[in-house]
Amino acid sequence: MAAQKKAQVDGGDPAADPKAFRRALGNYPTGVTVITAPGTDAPVGVTANSFASVSLDPPLVLWSIAHTSRSHSAFVASDRFAINILADDQVKVSQAFSSSSKDKFGAVAWRRGKTGSPLIDDALAYFDCLCETRHEGGDHTIMIGRVVEFGHYEGNPLAFAQGRYGIAVDHPETGVTAQARKADDAGLAEFPLLSLIAKAHYKVDADLEGQRTAAGNTQVGSKVLAGLYNSSPLTADELARQMYLDRRQVDDSLNEFVANGDVAPCDGNRFALTASGKARRRRMIDYLAKYQEEQLADIQPADLAAARRVLESFLSNSVQTF
Ligand SMILES: Cc1cc2nc3c(=O)[nH]c(=O)nc-3n(C[C@H](O)[C@H](O)[C@H](O)COP(=O)(O)O)c2cc1C
Repeated sequence: MAAQKKAQVDGGDPAADPKAFRRALGNYPTGVTVITAPGTDAPVGVTANSFASVSLDPPLVLWSIAHTSRSHSAFVASDRFAINILADDQVKVSQAFSSSSKDKFGAVAWRRGKTGSPLIDDALAYFDCLCETRHEGGDHTIMIGRVVEFGHYEGNPLAFAQGRYGIAVDHPETGVTAQARKADDAGLAEFPLLSLIAKAHYKVDADLEGQRTAAGNTQVGSKVLAGLYNSSPLTADELARQMYLDRRQVDDSLNEFVANGDVAPCDGNRFALTASGKARRRRMIDYLAKYQEEQLADIQPADLAAARRVLESFLSNSVQTF
């Protein structure tokens, strides 16, 4: 047998340390549900992660309730219940229904389902059930319900593991990301990679047009400022080549910048940014950085690093054709 690489946390007889047993069980991640029933005087509800699907045909589900739960007798007396699968923005709902509050339903908006059991608004899915059978299982009663109606809504589930609430994200090793799914939906998978790069360039350009105009920059002017920054003085020809610009456009732009004092001629036919040109360039970088932060906020760092590698490799390989 291969040696265990992970250090053991706990183990042994569950009866010797029930808390450790419970912690070990908590390593199985679950979703979070609120299970409700109409009750006799008022509706009852508890937060439960013991929910599981049992059978598709007939449609059966199960969950279990602790004998110590204040709602135990109400659930056992009820021939119906509804399972509400909570969404990732419903931690407060889970907390309300796992509390000892006397008015749990005051904390949420709800409506009655087909069986009369409460359905919690904005839950991700519900299963409205008639109770099929009950089984005693140690200190819990296991309820098996037959689903008479279900509903499924857009969104992502609330998760629970190791005693903490969480959200489910795609595992990086599967290579499936939410962004990839969104790209598929937008039909972008059809485009060759270089068309996507060109498309991204046009998008950035269009998105930044407003900022550029507000800062008094033109598209060519921005490129000239970008090209002159952080490098030794350049000739107009070098600038045109480096920034993929037409030589005449560069000349016009340089003339304007020299006239307003943002660029100074130096070393004969070369040009460099002045202090005011550098400040202007800094403002441009600032709004670009803000735009980048907003646009890339949802993309995984590993994906960004990969995209960066591809672009760096592409740009360093590219042969200058003009
Ligand atoms: C994430 C989570 C999952 C829970 N799962 C269950 C469960 O499956 N069964 C159960 O009886 N209690 C479960 N509980 C505990 C009950 O929600 C809690 O005891 C609640 O106060 C019971 O309400 P009541 O005493 O008003 O009936 C869970 C609590 C949390 C936070």
